[in-house]
Amino acid sequence: MTLPDTLPGTAAADSRPGSQWWRTAVIYQIYPRSFADASGDGVGDLPGVTSHIDDLKTLGVDAIWLSPFQRSPQKDAGYDVSDYCDVDPLFGTLADFDDLIEAAHSRGIRIIADLVPNHSSDQHVWFQQALAAAPGSPERARYIFRDGKGENGELPPNNWESVFGGPAWTRVTEPDGTPGQWYLHLFDSSQPDFDWSNPVVHEEFRRILRFWLDRGVDGFRVDVAHGLVKAPGLPDYTPDPHAGSMGGEEADVPYWGQEGVHDIYRDWNRVLAEYDGDRALCAEAWLPTVDMTAKWVRPDEMHQAFNFAYLETPWNAAELRAVIDESLRAYPAVGAPSTWVLSNHDVVRHASRLALTAENPQGHGIGPDSPGKPEPVLGLRRARAASAVMLALPGSAYIYQGEELGLPEVIDLPGDARQDPTWFRTEGERYGRDGCRVPIPWDADAPAYGFSPTGQSWLPQPAEWATLARDRQVGDADSTLSLYRSLLAERRAHALGAGTLRWIDGFGDDVLAFTNGDVTVVSNIGSEPVALPAGDLLVASEPVTDGMLPADVTVWLRTA
Ligand code: GLC
Repeated sequence: MTLPDTLPGTAAADSRPGSQWWRTAVIYQIYPRSFADASGDGVGDLPGVTSHIDDLKTLGVDAIWLSPFQRSPQKDAGYDVSDYCDVDPLFGTLADFDDLIEAAHSRGIRIIADLVPNHSSDQHVWFQQALAAAPGSPERARYIFRDGKGENGELPPNNWESVFGGPAWTRVTEPDGTPGQWYLHLFDSSQPDFDWSNPVVHEEFRRILRFWLDRGVDGFRVDVAHGLVKAPGLPDYTPDPHAGSMGGEEADVPYWGQEGVHDIYRDWNRVLAEYDGDRALCAEAWLPTVDMTAKWVRPDEMHQAFNFAYLETPWNAAELRAVIDESLRAYPAVGAPSTWVLSNHDVVRHASRLALTAENPQGHGIGPDSPGKPEPVLGLRRARAASAVMLALPGSAYIYQGEELGLPEVIDLPGDARQDPTWFRTEGERYGRDGCRVPIPWDADAPAYGFSPTGQSWLPQPAEWATLARDRQVGDADSTLSLYRSLLAERRAHALGAGTLRWIDGFGDDVLAFTNGDVTVVSNIGSEPVALPAGDLLVASEPVTDGMLPADVTVWLRTA
Protein backbone atom coordinates (compact mmCIF):
# COMPACT_ATOMS: atom_id res chain seq x y z
CA MET A 1 0.00 0.00 0.00
CA THR A 2 1.21 3.53 -0.72
CA LEU A 3 0.21 6.79 0.94
CA PRO A 4 -3.15 7.95 -0.44
CA ASP A 5 -3.06 11.14 -2.54
CA THR A 6 -6.28 12.48 -1.10
CA LEU A 7 -7.34 12.70 2.51
CA PRO A 8 -9.38 9.64 3.44
CA GLY A 9 -10.58 11.60 6.49
CA THR A 10 -13.04 9.82 8.69
CA ALA A 11 -13.65 6.96 6.26
CA ALA A 12 -10.30 5.41 7.11
CA ALA A 13 -10.72 6.29 10.76
CA ASP A 14 -14.12 4.67 10.99
CA SER A 15 -12.87 1.40 9.56
CA ARG A 16 -11.02 0.82 12.84
CA PRO A 17 -13.20 -0.80 15.44
CA GLY A 18 -13.82 0.01 19.09
CA SER A 19 -13.59 3.16 21.16
CA GLN A 20 -10.32 4.24 19.55
CA TRP A 21 -9.24 5.57 22.93
CA TRP A 22 -5.71 6.02 21.60
CA ARG A 23 -6.85 8.84 19.30
CA THR A 24 -7.15 11.31 22.16
CA ALA A 25 -5.44 9.67 25.14
CA VAL A 26 -2.90 11.27 27.44
CA ILE A 27 -0.35 8.52 28.01
CA TYR A 28 2.08 8.67 30.92
CA GLN A 29 5.47 7.04 30.39
CA ILE A 30 6.81 5.13 33.37
CA TYR A 31 10.47 4.23 33.35
CA PRO A 32 10.11 1.52 35.99
CA ARG A 33 13.64 1.62 37.40
CA SER A 34 13.28 5.30 38.26
CA PHE A 35 9.63 5.66 39.27
CA ALA A 36 9.20 4.14 42.73
CA ASP A 37 11.10 1.42 44.56
CA ALA A 38 8.97 -0.73 46.87
CA SER A 39 11.62 -3.39 47.55
CA GLY A 40 14.26 -0.96 48.81
CA ASP A 41 17.12 -2.05 46.53
CA GLY A 42 17.45 1.39 44.96
CA VAL A 43 15.79 0.38 41.67
CA GLY A 44 12.12 1.09 41.00
CA ASP A 45 9.75 -1.85 40.52
CA LEU A 46 6.20 -2.84 39.57
CA PRO A 47 4.83 -2.85 43.16
CA GLY A 48 6.22 0.71 43.36
CA VAL A 49 4.13 1.67 40.33
CA THR A 50 1.01 0.02 41.76
CA SER A 51 1.48 1.88 45.04
CA HIS A 52 1.25 5.22 43.18
CA ILE A 53 -1.60 4.34 40.85
CA ASP A 54 -3.96 6.75 42.62
CA ASP A 55 -1.48 9.59 42.10
CA LEU A 56 -1.70 8.93 38.37
CA LYS A 57 -5.47 8.82 38.55
CA THR A 58 -5.51 12.22 40.27
CA LEU A 59 -3.09 13.57 37.72
CA GLY A 60 -5.70 12.65 35.12
CA VAL A 61 -3.91 10.39 32.64
CA ASP A 62 -5.74 7.88 30.45
CA ALA A 63 -3.00 5.28 30.05
CA ILE A 64 0.46 4.25 31.17
CA TRP A 65 3.30 3.15 28.92
CA LEU A 66 5.67 0.94 30.89
CA SER A 67 9.26 0.94 29.62
CA PRO A 68 10.74 -2.60 29.67
CA PHE A 69 10.20 -4.68 32.79
CA GLN A 70 10.82 -8.07 31.14
CA ARG A 71 13.70 -10.33 32.18
CA SER A 72 16.98 -8.69 31.21
CA PRO A 73 20.64 -8.41 32.25
CA GLN A 74 19.99 -4.62 32.23
CA LYS A 75 22.92 -3.72 29.97
CA ASP A 76 20.68 -1.10 28.34
CA ALA A 77 18.24 -0.59 31.22
CA GLY A 78 15.96 -3.41 30.09
CA TYR A 79 16.06 -2.73 26.34
CA ASP A 80 18.14 -5.92 26.21
CA VAL A 81 15.55 -8.63 26.85
CA SER A 82 16.60 -12.19 27.71
CA ASP A 83 13.07 -13.56 28.29
CA TYR A 84 10.18 -11.72 26.66
CA CYS A 85 7.52 -13.56 28.64
CA ASP A 86 8.66 -12.99 32.19
CA VAL A 87 9.18 -10.06 34.58
CA ASP A 88 12.75 -9.32 35.61
CA PRO A 89 13.20 -10.12 39.34
CA LEU A 90 14.54 -6.58 39.74
CA PHE A 91 11.02 -5.32 38.97
CA GLY A 92 8.98 -8.10 40.60
CA THR A 93 7.02 -11.06 39.29
CA LEU A 94 4.30 -11.82 36.77
CA ALA A 95 1.87 -11.73 39.71
CA ASP A 96 3.03 -8.15 40.42
CA PHE A 97 2.35 -7.31 36.79
CA ASP A 98 -1.15 -8.81 37.04
CA ASP A 99 -1.76 -6.74 40.19
CA LEU A 100 -0.69 -3.59 38.38
CA ILE A 101 -2.98 -4.30 35.42
CA GLU A 102 -5.85 -4.92 37.81
CA ALA A 103 -5.14 -1.74 39.81
CA ALA A 104 -4.91 0.34 36.64
CA HIS A 105 -7.92 -1.14 34.85
CA SER A 106 -10.13 -0.84 37.91
CA ARG A 107 -9.41 2.91 37.80
CA GLY A 108 -10.02 3.19 34.06
CA ILE A 109 -6.31 3.51 33.24
CA ARG A 110 -4.96 1.48 30.32
CA ILE A 111 -1.51 -0.14 30.20
CA ILE A 112 0.81 -0.27 27.21
CA ALA A 113 3.88 -2.51 27.43
CA ASP A 114 7.20 -1.85 25.74
CA LEU A 115 8.11 -4.46 23.14
CA VAL A 116 11.71 -4.73 21.88
CA PRO A 117 11.69 -6.67 18.58
CA ASN A 118 14.80 -5.34 16.83
CA HIS A 119 17.23 -7.17 19.10
CA SER A 120 17.37 -9.39 22.15
CA SER A 121 19.92 -9.61 24.92
CA ASP A 122 23.01 -11.69 24.21
CA GLN A 123 21.84 -13.75 27.21
CA HIS A 124 18.62 -14.76 25.40
CA VAL A 125 18.50 -18.54 24.98
CA TRP A 126 18.37 -18.16 21.19
CA PHE A 127 21.59 -16.16 21.10
CA GLN A 128 23.32 -18.57 23.45
CA GLN A 129 22.23 -21.42 21.15
CA ALA A 130 23.51 -19.46 18.16
CA LEU A 131 26.94 -19.05 19.76
CA ALA A 132 27.12 -22.77 20.46
CA ALA A 133 26.00 -23.72 16.92
CA ALA A 134 27.93 -23.72 13.67
CA PRO A 135 27.96 -21.01 11.00
CA GLY A 136 25.05 -21.56 8.63
CA SER A 137 22.96 -23.35 11.29
CA PRO A 138 19.26 -22.59 11.93
CA GLU A 139 20.29 -21.31 15.38
CA ARG A 140 22.53 -18.63 13.82
CA ALA A 141 19.87 -17.78 11.22
CA ARG A 142 17.68 -16.15 13.90
CA TYR A 143 20.27 -13.36 14.20
CA ILE A 144 22.47 -11.62 11.62
CA PHE A 145 25.72 -13.55 11.56
CA ARG A 146 28.15 -12.98 8.67
CA ASP A 147 31.71 -13.92 7.81
CA GLY A 148 34.16 -11.07 8.20
CA LYS A 149 36.07 -9.39 5.40
CA GLY A 150 39.86 -9.50 5.00
CA GLU A 151 42.15 -12.46 4.47
CA ASN A 152 41.13 -14.21 7.67
CA GLY A 153 37.74 -12.64 8.23
CA GLU A 154 39.32 -10.20 10.66
CA LEU A 155 37.40 -7.16 9.39
CA PRO A 156 33.70 -6.51 10.07
CA PRO A 157 31.28 -7.44 7.26
CA ASN A 158 30.45 -3.79 6.58
CA ASN A 159 31.12 -0.30 7.97
CA TRP A 160 27.92 0.21 10.00
CA GLU A 161 28.24 2.01 13.31
CA SER A 162 26.34 1.32 16.51
CA VAL A 163 23.84 4.00 17.59
CA PHE A 164 25.71 4.00 20.91
CA GLY A 165 29.10 4.55 19.23
CA GLY A 166 31.76 2.17 17.85
CA PRO A 167 31.25 -0.60 15.29
CA ALA A 168 27.89 -2.34 14.86
CA TRP A 169 29.57 -5.75 14.58
CA THR A 170 31.26 -8.01 17.12
CA ARG A 171 33.30 -11.08 16.28
CA VAL A 172 32.55 -14.31 18.11
CA THR A 173 34.83 -17.10 19.15
CA GLU A 174 33.57 -20.34 17.62
CA PRO A 175 32.89 -23.35 19.90
CA ASP A 176 36.24 -24.83 18.81
CA GLY A 177 38.08 -21.75 20.13
CA THR A 178 38.93 -20.15 16.77
CA PRO A 179 38.00 -16.55 15.87
CA GLY A 180 34.77 -16.82 13.96
CA GLN A 181 31.84 -14.97 12.42
CA TRP A 182 30.56 -11.51 13.27
CA TYR A 183 27.07 -10.60 14.48
CA LEU A 184 25.23 -7.34 13.91
CA HIS A 185 24.13 -5.10 16.78
CA LEU A 186 22.77 -1.68 15.87
CA PHE A 187 22.99 -0.86 19.60
CA ASP A 188 25.28 -2.35 22.26
CA SER A 189 27.24 -5.56 21.62
CA SER A 190 24.97 -7.13 24.27
CA GLN A 191 21.97 -6.45 21.95
CA PRO A 192 22.25 -8.71 18.85
CA ASP A 193 19.79 -7.85 16.05
CA PHE A 194 17.24 -10.47 15.05
CA ASP A 195 17.04 -11.50 11.39
CA TRP A 196 13.50 -10.53 10.41
CA SER A 197 13.85 -12.26 7.04
CA ASN A 198 13.49 -15.50 9.03
CA PRO A 199 9.84 -16.63 9.51
CA VAL A 200 10.76 -18.22 12.86
CA VAL A 201 11.33 -14.73 14.28
CA HIS A 202 7.88 -13.62 13.08
CA GLU A 203 6.28 -16.64 14.70
CA GLU A 204 8.05 -16.02 18.01
CA PHE A 205 6.91 -12.40 18.18
CA ARG A 206 3.31 -13.33 17.42
CA ARG A 207 3.57 -15.64 20.43
CA ILE A 208 5.03 -12.85 22.58
CA LEU A 209 2.30 -10.40 21.52
CA ARG A 210 -0.38 -12.94 22.45
CA PHE A 211 1.27 -13.70 25.79
CA TRP A 212 0.89 -10.08 26.94
CA LEU A 213 -2.44 -9.49 25.18
CA ASP A 214 -3.81 -12.52 27.05
CA ARG A 215 -2.56 -10.93 30.29
CA GLY A 216 -4.59 -7.84 29.51
CA VAL A 217 -2.24 -5.22 28.08
CA ASP A 218 -3.98 -2.56 26.01
CA GLY A 219 -1.18 -2.28 23.50
CA PHE A 220 2.51 -2.00 22.84
CA ARG A 221 5.04 0.74 22.35
CA VAL A 222 7.29 -0.81 19.73
CA ASP A 223 10.99 -0.10 20.23
CA VAL A 224 13.07 0.87 17.17
CA ALA A 225 10.05 0.20 14.96
CA HIS A 226 11.91 1.55 11.90
CA GLY A 227 14.91 -0.76 12.26
CA LEU A 228 13.82 -4.39 12.03
CA VAL A 229 14.39 -4.93 8.31
CA LYS A 230 17.83 -4.35 6.81
CA ALA A 231 18.59 -3.67 3.13
CA PRO A 232 19.51 -6.83 1.18
CA GLY A 233 23.25 -7.36 1.01
CA LEU A 234 23.83 -5.07 4.02
CA PRO A 235 25.53 -2.34 1.93
CA ASP A 236 28.09 0.01 3.50
CA TYR A 237 26.69 3.28 4.78
CA THR A 238 28.41 6.32 6.26
CA PRO A 239 26.04 8.45 8.32
CA ASP A 240 26.10 12.21 8.27
CA PRO A 241 28.11 13.08 11.42
CA HIS A 242 25.59 15.83 12.24
CA ALA A 243 22.52 13.61 11.92
CA GLY A 244 20.70 12.15 14.93
CA SER A 245 22.04 8.69 15.71
CA MET A 246 18.58 7.10 15.45
CA GLY A 247 18.30 8.23 11.84
CA GLY A 248 16.05 11.21 12.43
CA GLU A 249 17.59 13.40 9.76
CA GLU A 250 18.54 11.08 6.93
CA ALA A 251 16.69 9.22 4.21
CA ASP A 252 17.86 5.99 2.54
CA VAL A 253 19.67 4.46 5.47
CA PRO A 254 20.05 0.68 4.86
CA TYR A 255 18.91 -0.15 8.40
CA TRP A 256 16.17 2.44 8.99
CA GLY A 257 12.74 2.59 7.40
CA GLN A 258 13.12 -0.25 4.89
CA GLU A 259 9.85 -0.95 3.04
CA GLY A 260 9.58 -4.57 4.23
CA VAL A 261 9.13 -3.49 7.84
CA HIS A 262 5.51 -2.52 7.15
CA ASP A 263 4.43 -6.10 6.49
CA ILE A 264 5.44 -6.98 10.05
CA TYR A 265 3.07 -4.37 11.48
CA ARG A 266 0.25 -5.40 9.15
CA ASP A 267 0.65 -8.87 10.59
CA TRP A 268 0.67 -7.56 14.18
CA ASN A 269 -2.36 -5.40 13.45
CA ARG A 270 -4.23 -8.61 12.60
CA VAL A 271 -3.05 -10.27 15.83
CA LEU A 272 -4.30 -7.32 17.91
CA ALA A 273 -7.60 -7.32 16.03
CA GLU A 274 -8.26 -10.86 17.32
CA TYR A 275 -8.63 -9.31 20.78
CA ASP A 276 -11.43 -7.20 22.18
CA GLY A 277 -10.90 -3.90 23.91
CA ASP A 278 -9.32 -1.87 21.16
CA ARG A 279 -5.64 -2.69 21.65
CA ALA A 280 -3.10 -0.39 20.02
CA LEU A 281 0.44 -0.27 18.64
CA CYS A 282 2.66 2.80 18.91
CA ALA A 283 5.81 3.12 16.81
CA GLU A 284 9.10 4.45 18.04
CA ALA A 285 10.32 5.34 14.56
CA TRP A 286 12.84 8.16 14.11
CA LEU A 287 12.47 9.27 10.49
CA PRO A 288 13.44 12.42 8.64
CA THR A 289 9.93 13.70 7.92
CA VAL A 290 6.42 13.64 9.36
CA ASP A 291 5.18 12.18 6.05
CA MET A 292 7.59 9.27 6.31
CA THR A 293 6.56 8.60 9.92
CA ALA A 294 2.89 8.62 8.86
CA LYS A 295 3.54 5.44 6.85
CA TRP A 296 3.75 3.53 10.15
CA VAL A 297 0.14 4.44 10.99
CA ARG A 298 -1.69 3.61 7.77
CA PRO A 299 -5.06 1.99 8.50
CA ASP A 300 -3.78 -1.61 8.46
CA GLU A 301 -0.55 -0.98 10.41
CA MET A 302 0.05 0.71 13.75
CA HIS A 303 -2.30 3.09 15.53
CA GLN A 304 0.10 5.76 16.70
CA ALA A 305 3.67 6.87 16.07
CA PHE A 306 5.69 9.19 18.28
CA ASN A 307 5.90 12.66 16.81
CA PHE A 308 9.63 13.15 17.17
CA ALA A 309 9.58 16.00 14.65
CA TYR A 310 7.52 17.91 17.22
CA LEU A 311 9.83 16.93 20.09
CA GLU A 312 12.85 18.11 18.12
CA THR A 313 11.37 21.51 17.24
CA PRO A 314 13.04 24.40 19.08
CA TRP A 315 11.12 26.99 21.12
CA ASN A 316 10.23 29.07 18.08
CA ALA A 317 6.71 30.09 17.04
CA ALA A 318 7.12 29.76 13.27
CA GLU A 319 8.79 26.37 13.49
CA LEU A 320 6.22 25.08 15.96
CA ARG A 321 3.36 26.26 13.80
CA ALA A 322 4.91 24.55 10.77
CA VAL A 323 5.38 21.19 12.50
CA ILE A 324 1.89 21.30 14.02
CA ASP A 325 0.42 22.03 10.57
CA GLU A 326 2.42 19.25 8.99
CA SER A 327 1.39 16.78 11.69
CA LEU A 328 -2.29 17.68 11.52
CA ARG A 329 -2.15 17.16 7.76
CA ALA A 330 0.02 14.04 7.44
CA TYR A 331 -1.39 11.79 10.18
CA PRO A 332 -5.10 12.42 9.51
CA ALA A 333 -4.30 11.90 5.81
CA VAL A 334 -3.82 8.22 6.64
CA GLY A 335 -6.69 8.12 9.13
CA ALA A 336 -4.49 8.31 12.24
CA PRO A 337 -4.31 10.87 15.04
CA SER A 338 -1.20 12.94 15.52
CA THR A 339 0.65 12.33 18.75
CA TRP A 340 2.62 14.92 20.68
CA VAL A 341 5.61 14.44 22.96
CA LEU A 342 8.24 16.67 24.53
CA SER A 343 10.30 14.34 26.72
CA ASN A 344 11.14 10.67 27.16
CA HIS A 345 13.90 8.47 28.61
CA ASP A 346 16.20 9.00 25.59
CA VAL A 347 16.31 12.79 25.23
CA VAL A 348 17.34 15.81 27.28
CA ARG A 349 14.34 16.71 29.46
CA HIS A 350 12.43 19.64 27.97
CA ALA A 351 12.76 21.72 31.16
CA SER A 352 16.45 21.91 30.19
CA ARG A 353 16.38 21.40 26.44
CA LEU A 354 14.22 24.43 25.70
CA ALA A 355 16.77 26.76 27.33
CA LEU A 356 19.95 25.27 25.85
CA THR A 357 22.09 27.91 24.21
CA ALA A 358 24.13 25.37 22.23
CA GLU A 359 22.94 22.76 19.73
CA ASN A 360 20.66 20.14 21.26
CA PRO A 361 22.78 16.97 21.59
CA GLN A 362 19.66 14.74 21.93
CA GLY A 363 20.61 11.12 22.83
CA HIS A 364 24.24 12.11 23.33
CA GLY A 365 23.16 13.94 26.48
CA ILE A 366 24.61 16.89 28.36
CA GLY A 367 27.11 16.87 31.20
CA PRO A 368 29.43 19.09 33.22
CA ASP A 369 31.58 20.00 30.21
CA SER A 370 28.80 20.56 27.67
CA PRO A 371 28.54 23.97 26.01
CA GLY A 372 25.47 26.20 26.31
CA LYS A 373 24.12 24.81 29.56
CA PRO A 374 20.52 25.85 30.23
CA GLU A 375 19.48 28.39 32.83
CA PRO A 376 17.08 26.40 35.08
CA VAL A 377 14.50 29.12 35.82
CA LEU A 378 14.11 29.97 32.14
CA GLY A 379 14.07 26.27 31.24
CA LEU A 380 11.22 25.50 33.62
CA ARG A 381 9.23 28.54 32.53
CA ARG A 382 9.51 27.50 28.88
CA ALA A 383 8.76 23.87 29.70
CA ARG A 384 5.53 24.85 31.45
CA ALA A 385 4.54 27.05 28.52
CA ALA A 386 5.45 24.32 26.01
CA SER A 387 3.47 21.65 27.89
CA ALA A 388 0.47 23.98 27.92
CA VAL A 389 0.70 24.22 24.13
CA MET A 390 1.15 20.47 23.68
CA LEU A 391 -1.77 19.48 25.89
CA ALA A 392 -4.12 21.79 23.95
CA LEU A 393 -3.43 20.09 20.62
CA PRO A 394 -5.89 17.62 19.06
CA GLY A 395 -4.65 14.03 19.13
CA SER A 396 -2.88 11.97 21.77
CA ALA A 397 -0.14 13.29 24.06
CA TYR A 398 2.68 11.52 25.86
CA ILE A 399 4.01 12.72 29.22
CA TYR A 400 7.31 11.41 30.61
CA GLN A 401 7.40 10.72 34.36
CA GLY A 402 8.70 13.73 36.27
CA GLU A 403 7.84 16.36 33.68
CA GLU A 404 4.69 17.03 35.70
CA LEU A 405 7.07 18.01 38.52
CA GLY A 406 9.15 20.21 36.22
CA LEU A 407 12.22 18.02 36.63
CA PRO A 408 15.25 19.25 34.68
CA GLU A 409 17.98 17.12 33.12
CA VAL A 410 20.58 16.24 35.77
CA ILE A 411 23.73 17.61 34.20
CA ASP A 412 26.39 17.07 36.85
CA LEU A 413 26.06 13.31 37.41
CA PRO A 414 29.49 11.96 38.35
CA GLY A 415 31.12 9.78 35.71
CA ASP A 416 31.25 6.75 38.00
CA ALA A 417 27.47 6.90 38.50
CA ARG A 418 26.63 6.92 34.79
CA GLN A 419 25.25 3.69 33.36
CA ASP A 420 24.18 4.40 29.78
CA PRO A 421 26.04 2.13 27.29
CA THR A 422 26.66 5.27 25.20
CA TRP A 423 28.89 6.61 27.99
CA PHE A 424 30.97 3.41 28.04
CA ARG A 425 31.10 2.79 24.29
CA THR A 426 32.39 6.31 23.61
CA GLU A 427 34.68 6.33 26.65
CA GLY A 428 32.89 9.32 28.07
CA GLU A 429 32.88 11.38 24.88
CA ARG A 430 29.06 11.25 24.89
CA TYR A 431 27.37 11.60 28.27
CA GLY A 432 24.33 9.58 27.22
CA ARG A 433 20.85 9.54 28.71
CA ASP A 434 21.27 9.01 32.45
CA GLY A 435 20.52 12.69 33.13
CA CYS A 436 16.84 12.23 32.20
CA ARG A 437 16.53 8.95 34.15
CA VAL A 438 17.23 10.09 37.71
CA PRO A 439 14.67 8.64 40.19
CA ILE A 440 11.55 10.65 40.99
CA PRO A 441 11.38 12.78 44.18
CA TRP A 442 8.11 11.98 45.96
CA ASP A 443 8.65 13.24 49.48
CA ALA A 444 11.02 16.16 50.23
CA ASP A 445 11.95 15.02 53.74
CA ALA A 446 12.29 11.26 53.23
CA PRO A 447 15.47 9.37 52.31
CA ALA A 448 15.97 9.36 48.51
CA TYR A 449 13.01 11.78 48.52
CA GLY A 450 10.69 8.83 49.10
CA PHE A 451 11.80 7.02 45.96
CA SER A 452 12.97 4.08 48.06
CA PRO A 453 12.28 3.13 51.69
CA THR A 454 15.99 2.48 52.30
CA GLY A 455 17.18 5.77 50.80
CA GLN A 456 19.00 3.98 48.00
CA SER A 457 18.79 5.26 44.46
CA TRP A 458 20.49 3.73 41.41
CA LEU A 459 21.40 7.24 40.21
CA PRO A 460 22.09 10.03 42.72
CA GLN A 461 19.34 12.67 43.06
CA PRO A 462 20.42 16.32 43.21
CA ALA A 463 20.12 18.18 46.54
CA GLU A 464 17.97 20.89 44.97
CA TRP A 465 15.27 18.35 44.06
CA ALA A 466 13.75 18.67 47.56
CA THR A 467 11.84 21.72 46.33
CA LEU A 468 10.56 19.75 43.33
CA ALA A 469 9.33 16.79 45.40
CA ARG A 470 5.76 15.84 44.72
CA ASP A 471 4.57 16.38 48.30
CA ARG A 472 5.77 20.00 48.17
CA GLN A 473 3.82 20.57 44.96
CA VAL A 474 0.49 18.93 45.82
CA GLY A 475 -0.99 21.80 47.80
CA ASP A 476 0.71 24.61 45.90
CA ALA A 477 -1.63 26.12 43.30
CA ASP A 478 1.33 27.56 41.36
CA SER A 479 3.33 24.32 41.20
CA THR A 480 4.05 22.49 37.98
CA LEU A 481 2.07 19.52 39.28
CA SER A 482 -0.99 21.73 39.82
CA LEU A 483 -0.51 23.16 36.33
CA TYR A 484 -0.47 19.69 34.75
CA ARG A 485 -3.56 18.65 36.73
CA SER A 486 -5.43 21.72 35.54
CA LEU A 487 -4.30 21.25 31.95
CA LEU A 488 -5.39 17.61 31.94
CA ALA A 489 -8.73 18.38 33.62
CA GLU A 490 -9.55 21.22 31.18
CA ARG A 491 -8.33 19.16 28.23
CA ARG A 492 -10.80 16.46 29.22
CA ALA A 493 -13.64 18.89 30.04
CA HIS A 494 -13.32 20.61 26.66
CA ALA A 495 -12.58 17.40 24.70
CA LEU A 496 -9.48 19.01 23.20
CA GLY A 497 -7.99 15.67 22.16
CA ALA A 498 -10.89 15.20 19.72
CA GLY A 499 -11.05 18.85 18.68
CA THR A 500 -10.04 20.88 15.65
CA LEU A 501 -7.27 23.46 15.63
CA ARG A 502 -7.75 26.85 13.97
CA TRP A 503 -4.93 29.38 13.97
CA ILE A 504 -5.56 32.97 15.02
CA ASP A 505 -3.35 35.50 13.26
CA GLY A 506 -2.54 39.05 14.26
CA PHE A 507 -0.52 38.54 17.44
CA GLY A 508 2.85 38.85 15.72
CA ASP A 509 5.48 36.40 14.56
CA ASP A 510 6.54 35.27 18.03
CA VAL A 511 3.12 34.20 19.24
CA LEU A 512 1.28 30.92 18.70
CA ALA A 513 -2.46 31.47 18.95
CA PHE A 514 -5.22 29.06 18.06
CA THR A 515 -8.65 27.86 19.01
CA ASN A 516 -9.59 24.29 19.75
CA GLY A 517 -13.35 24.15 20.27
CA ASP A 518 -14.33 26.78 22.82
CA VAL A 519 -10.79 27.17 24.12
CA THR A 520 -8.39 29.83 22.86
CA VAL A 521 -4.71 29.16 23.42
CA VAL A 522 -2.14 31.94 23.28
CA SER A 523 1.55 31.25 23.79
CA ASN A 524 4.10 34.06 23.86
CA ILE A 525 7.34 32.64 22.52
CA GLY A 526 8.93 36.07 21.99
CA SER A 527 10.61 38.39 24.45
CA GLU A 528 8.01 41.21 24.76
CA PRO A 529 4.64 41.00 26.55
CA VAL A 530 1.57 40.92 24.30
CA ALA A 531 -2.01 41.98 25.03
CA LEU A 532 -4.33 39.11 25.89
CA PRO A 533 -7.59 38.67 23.99
CA ALA A 534 -10.90 38.69 25.86
CA GLY A 535 -12.07 35.48 27.53
CA ASP A 536 -12.25 33.73 30.88
CA LEU A 537 -8.90 32.45 32.02
CA LEU A 538 -8.95 28.65 32.29
CA VAL A 539 -5.25 27.92 32.84
CA ALA A 540 -2.05 29.96 32.73
CA SER A 541 1.46 28.49 32.74
CA GLU A 542 2.55 31.45 34.96
CA PRO A 543 0.47 34.09 36.72
CA VAL A 544 -0.80 36.77 34.31
CA THR A 545 -1.91 40.26 35.33
CA ASP A 546 -3.06 43.50 33.68
CA GLY A 547 -4.38 41.76 30.58
CA MET A 548 -0.84 41.22 29.35
CA LEU A 549 0.83 37.90 28.46
CA PRO A 550 4.52 37.90 29.44
CA ALA A 551 7.28 36.17 27.48
CA ASP A 552 7.42 32.35 27.69
CA VAL A 553 3.89 32.01 29.05
CA THR A 554 0.88 30.13 27.62
CA VAL A 555 -2.74 30.71 28.57
CA TRP A 556 -5.98 28.88 27.85
CA LEU A 557 -9.08 31.11 27.69
CA ARG A 558 -12.71 30.20 27.28
CA THR A 559 -14.06 32.30 24.45
CA ALA A 560 -17.26 30.78 23.13
C1 GLC B 1 15.04 2.76 21.85
C2 GLC B 1 14.87 2.97 23.34
C3 GLC B 1 16.21 3.22 23.93
C4 GLC B 1 17.07 1.98 23.70
C5 GLC B 1 17.14 1.63 22.22
C6 GLC B 1 17.65 0.24 22.01
O1 GLC B 1 15.47 3.89 21.22
O2 GLC B 1 13.97 4.00 23.57
O3 GLC B 1 16.16 3.53 25.28
O4 GLC B 1 18.37 2.20 24.18
O5 GLC B 1 15.88 1.67 21.61
O6 GLC B 1 16.69 -0.69 22.40
